[in-house]
Amino acid sequence: MSAYPAETPSPTRATVPFSVIPKPAEVNLSGGTFPLTERTQVLVNPADPELLAIGQYLADHLRPATGYPFPVQAATGALPEGSILLTLSDSDPSLGEEGYELAITPNGVRLSAPHPAGLFWGVQTIRQLLPPSIESSAPQDGPWTLPTGSIRDWPRFAWRGMMLDVSRHFFGPQVIKHLIDLLAYYKMNRLHLHLSDDQGWRIMIHSWPDLARIGGSTQVGGGPGGYYSQEEYADIVAYAQNRYITVVPEIDMPGHTNAALASYAELNCDGVARPLYTGTEVGFSSLCLDKEITYRFVDDVVREIAARTPGPYFHIGGDEAMATPQSDYIAFIERVQGIVQSYGKQMIGWEEIGQAKLLPTSIVQLWHSAVAREAVRQGARVIMSPATRAYLDMKYTPETPLGLHWAGYIEVKDAYDWDPATLVEGIGESDILGVEAPLWTETIQTVADMEWMAFPRLIGIAEIGWSPAVGRDWEEYHLRLGRHSPRLAAMGVNFYRSPQVPWE
Ligand code: ACM
Repeated sequence: MSAYPAETPSPTRATVPFSVIPKPAEVNLSGGTFPLTERTQVLVNPADPELLAIGQYLADHLRPATGYPFPVQAATGALPEGSILLTLSDSDPSLGEEGYELAITPNGVRLSAPHPAGLFWGVQTIRQLLPPSIESSAPQDGPWTLPTGSIRDWPRFAWRGMMLDVSRHFFGPQVIKHLIDLLAYYKMNRLHLHLSDDQGWRIMIHSWPDLARIGGSTQVGGGPGGYYSQEEYADIVAYAQNRYITVVPEIDMPGHTNAALASYAELNCDGVARPLYTGTEVGFSSLCLDKEITYRFVDDVVREIAARTPGPYFHIGGDEAMATPQSDYIAFIERVQGIVQSYGKQMIGWEEIGQAKLLPTSIVQLWHSAVAREAVRQGARVIMSPATRAYLDMKYTPETPLGLHWAGYIEVKDAYDWDPATLVEGIGESDILGVEAPLWTETIQTVADMEWMAFPRLIGIAEIGWSPAVGRDWEEYHLRLGRHSPRLAAMGVNFYRSPQVPWE
C-alpha cells in the first residue's frame, strides 16, 4: 500500500491527503478526526525513563500552541478515551530499529514500535499530522485534530545525516541544538560535525590545548572563531542522543590541517609553526607523515574525542590531501585506521580513503568521484553525499547571494530528484548506508544563512534517506513541501522560498 495511489495522474493540493515529510511507507486514512482537548493525556507503556522522556517530549511540543496540560502518565489497563498511548507492546518486530505504527481513531491514538527510536520518529509524524500552528511557541486557535487512519512506517536507509562545517565559521552549542531539533523533525539521525580544517580547530584537546586556544582563535575572514570545551561537546552529543541522533565527529587529516600546524611547531616537518589562515583555498597543508610525533598527536586526539563520543563512528576526513605524496597518504590512512579501531570506533573517511586498504567496518563518504567504488570492492559501505545534489553550500541559482558553485547550481528539485542507488554505476542499494547533506561554511556566517542554505533542500534529502524509492516523485513531493512553509515559519526557520514550490 502506498500513501498515494499510482493511478493518481497529476497530484493537486486536493489529492495530497496530508503533508508528512518524509513520506511514510504505508498510509491509510479513514476520513475522520481525533481532537486534542484539555483532557487529553499522554500515556506511556512501559513507564521506563526512556519512554517517559519521549512522552514528555511529545507533551512539551503540544502544550505551547494548545495551552492544554497534556499530563504524561504511566499506562495502566484499559486505554482511557481521548488519550495518546506510546507503547512497545504488541508491535511488529519487522518494523526494525526505527519503524513505528500509528493507529488513530476518533477515540484515541496508539503509537507502537518495537524500539524507542521508532516511537520518537512516530511522535514527529503526530506533530506533522496536526495543523502547522501546533509548532507555534505561543497559544493559537484550534481545532487541534488528527486525521483518523493508520500508518506503518520505517526508513529505507540507516544513515540520514547532515554535516555542518564549524571550522570555516564557528557555530556555538545553542545553534547546534537548534539544528538538532530541526533534524529530528525530519527524522534525520546523524549529525556530522566537521571539527577541524585549515581555518579552525574547534574542540579542546586537553593533551594538546593550543589546538583550540591558538588553532581555534580565528575563522574565514578573520573573525574570532571559537571552540567547544569537552563538556560542551558532550552536552551537544547528549542532546542529540536524546533525539535519537548520533553525532559523528570529524578531524580532517592529513590535509586540511593548517590550524593544527599553526598551533604546534613540532607537527611541521621543518619545525616551524605555520601562520593562522583565514582564506578559503584548499589543498596546501599536510601533517608531517615521517615524524612519530604526528602519530602521538593523532592517537591523543582520537582518544580524547572517542572518550566523549558514545556513537560508534570517528571520521578522519582524508579528502583533498594534495600536499601529501600518494604512497605516504595510503600508509597514513591505514595507520590511522588502526588507531581509530584501537579506541573502539569505526573509521569513516571521504571517498579518497578508498585508495587505502580498508577494514570491512570502515565507511566511505562519496562526494565528487567514483573512487568510492574502490572502497565498495573491499566491502566498505558508502554514505552518499554527491556534491552535485547534496552539497548545501552550492548556490540554488546564479543569483543566490551565498554559497559556491563549483559543483553547479542546486535548486530544490535537483536536491530531491535523484536516487542514491542509481546515481553512480557500481554502487547499488546494498552498498549504501545512507545519505548525508554537507553544509560547508566558507560563505556562511550566521544561523539565518545556515537555515537559508539548508532549508528546504535538507528536507528533500531527509525524504530520500527515509522514504521508499517507489512512490517518491517530485510532482507530488513539491506539493507536500509547499505545505511546510507555515510549519517552518512557526519554528522560526529562515528558508529559501524557491519559485519551484507552491508555498502556502
Ligand atoms: C570535500 O568537499 N572536500 C569533501
